[in-house]
Amino acid sequence: MAILVTGGSGYIGSHTCVELLNAGYDIVVVDNLTNSRLESLRRVREITGRDFKFYKVDLLDQEALIRVFAQNKIDAVIHFAGHKSVGESVRLPLWYYHNNITGTLVLCKVMEKYGVKNIVFSSSATVYGLQEKVPIAEELPLSATNPYGRTKLMIEEMLRDLYLSDSNWSIALLRYFNPAGAHNSGLIGEDPNGIPNNLMPYITQVAAGRLKELQVFGNDYETIDGTGVRDFIHVVDLALGHLSALTKVMATTGVEAYNLGTGRGYSVLELVKAFETVTGMRIPYTITSRRPGDIGICYANPSKAERELGWVAEKGIEEMCSDSWRWQSNNPNGYLEEAKIAAGVGAAPSPRTLSRSNEDFFVYIGR
Ligand code: WQD
Repeated sequence: MAILVTGGSGYIGSHTCVELLNAGYDIVVVDNLTNSRLESLRRVREITGRDFKFYKVDLLDQEALIRVFAQNKIDAVIHFAGHKSVGESVRLPLWYYHNNITGTLVLCKVMEKYGVKNIVFSSSATVYGLQEKVPIAEELPLSATNPYGRTKLMIEEMLRDLYLSDSNWSIALLRYFNPAGAHNSGLIGEDPNGIPNNLMPYITQVAAGRLKELQVFGNDYETIDGTGVRDFIHVVDLALGHLSALTKVMATTGVEAYNLGTGRGYSVLELVKAFETVTGMRIPYTITSRRPGDIGICYANPSKAERELGWVAEKGIEEMCSDSWRWQSNNPNGYLEEAKIAAGVGAAPSPRTLSRSNEDFFVYIGR
């Protein structure tokens, strides 16, 4: 029995791979590595001591994906692969619709071809649009305010239609709030390309001296200190939520959406203060104007996931800060250094952990 993890070398994907391997699952990872590095998977193996298969595959390449299913007995899929920058999606909508939606269509067709009808989909709280009613529950009306959010909404609708056409499908739609933090080993973490869009990696890069100061996007919201309030959830809690959803989809049929959040909101300045207290680092900041498209307050009602998945977030904001800082301070340039080495810029990584097959799309992560 193997779980296929698409986008498994990314931030949430790699953390979920760690928890899947630790829980005894066999996994197969596919990723096109356009927004992540193979080094993250080498470290997943280092953390867990377990070997697994990786295929460098773009979901748009149906023939390559068919080969993965033909070579492995897949029982369920956790689908992370997709572009996720709100700003980039506004600039490049066609690229986002093609990559995220067509990629998911190809995945579902190949799953159907091989009789695999269990899927956990990486959705987002962004499908609630400019929802001002908090805490946010799953039955609230859905809308999207940008192409990225619309791809998540459209994929949710596609998957609902798929179930209506064939009730043998079992589908969990996981709506993430604000993922933050890192595995406590300091070996894996969030490694955004370029200047971070999201708050926590921006803060850690200021602390690491890569960025000068934080711009706080507005302090005129109706919140405790005027700055935006969000439901920050530790990425390990998020990963464990995927394992709980996987257990459910393997045991039942149907399609259900679940909020993965803590149910607790923190303001931007509360997060900055928590980070400074926990790490002893100072985070200089300037208050600037609101970021277009932002809402003031957003946090989850996570009771449905607790009730139906038996899952609840356990890690607090302090742990998110300390784990994020451990990752960033241990890896000032993210995975880049190791990736340069692996690309032959320096000494090759130890062959025992990164052996390549004779096919250029398959890499065995292990001895
Ligand atoms: C959080 C708060 C900002 C950066 C986004 C996506 C969402 C999901 C999570 C994928 C807001 C403020 C931020 C900065 C700031 N991604 N902020 N200065 O916008 O809640 O959600 O990431 O699923 O889809 O929309 O997260 O981290 O960008 O912002 O003041 O440099 O921090 O205004 O109040 P957001 P964020």
